[in-house]
Amino acid sequence: FKVDWDPEMAEKNGYEHYMLKEIHEQPDALRRVLANRVSTQGVNLDEIGLTAEELKKYSQIQVVACGTAYYSGMVGKYIIEELARIPVKVDVASEFRYSNPIIDKDTLVIVVSQSGETADTLAGLRLAREKGAEVLALTNVVGSTIAREADRVLYLKAGPEIAVASTKAYLTMVSVFYLLAVQFAKIKGTINDDEYMGLVSDLIRLPELASETIKVSEEKAKEKARYFIDYDNSFYIGRNFDYTIALEGALKLKEISYLHAEAYPAGELKHGPLALIEEGIPVVAVVTRRSLYDKMLSNIKEVKARGANITAVAIAGDAEVEKAVDDVIFIPECNEFFSGLLAVIPLQLLAYYTAVGRGFDVDQPRNLAKSVTVE
Ligand code: G6P
Repeated sequence: FKVDWDPEMAEKNGYEHYMLKEIHEQPDALRRVLANRVSTQGVNLDEIGLTAEELKKYSQIQVVACGTAYYSGMVGKYIIEELARIPVKVDVASEFRYSNPIIDKDTLVIVVSQSGETADTLAGLRLAREKGAEVLALTNVVGSTIAREADRVLYLKAGPEIAVASTKAYLTMVSVFYLLAVQFAKIKGTINDDEYMGLVSDLIRLPELASETIKVSEEKAKEKARYFIDYDNSFYIGRNFDYTIALEGALKLKEISYLHAEAYPAGELKHGPLALIEEGIPVVAVVTRRSLYDKMLSNIKEVKARGANITAVAIAGDAEVEKAVDDVIFIPECNEFFSGLLAVIPLQLLAYYTAVGRGFDVDQPRNLAKSVTVE
């Protein structure tokens, strides 16, 4: 009897890389982050110990984070502003810490950090507390410095994340922003009971939808990655929170496949990047927001007319987008507030298979570290 698995392979559970394993663990990570925090009774965030009165007093929210965590904050901004009508500002921690932010005791500062140890994020947390703001940390690591120094903590429960490029931690960060947005909206009365229960029941379905998304998109993303391998530049476009998903998708591609990817708000293309669109250049269009559908479609046509090769991530059954682009990767139909979260999954897979195809060290990309504990 011969065992041809080494201990590392066993930890990877048969997957070739941690990143692929972690992408596949996302439905479970979502189950854990949502467990006991959302049920048919509604959202329950009692663990952070904030009363409705305290929540109501926040006049603004300031998010501080780096990298992927920063992009999760951008999704948070759209969702909280749209649902709860509280202004949200999002800053990269390395900028925030050297600014003179306008925050006070009525500002809720949310610091987001998978590791809980990122030096700039920690400095941002300390600055916020000095200014008298309350700090809520979203972190994956129990007992991390950020968890210890924040006033309140919501753990991400993503489980250990080994690959440098974050995947499952990002999905749990975004989910926590959803929980906060729905809860704030309910308390502030910006949504009615039916809308609230509708959002709650969609939140409950997220793990199942994420699982379905992996199932329906993986082969297509793998196939399309073959096209990306030969290029050095690409663009990711979207509008509103689809744009923030484009940012995260482009970051994934840069980090591990060393292919330059630039995310742009689709309506801003004509103010510069359109000059760079040439025959064959890969463009990824995230098109999940129904309210901005026509606008996106015309942006797609604009780049297509200049010869781009377009891959759209769109809602299942969207024949119109399918006709307008070269390839489409579908995600399951769901509430449009949550489709962005699903749309990021094919983008993670596209980055992963492109990096594998280019022969790079997916889990340990050059020059990058999992946790940046020095400035
Ligand atoms: C590094 C990692 C990124 C991560 C960022 C923030 O750059 O390579 O994947 O998003 O740090 O890390 P944090 O632990 O604070 O979320």
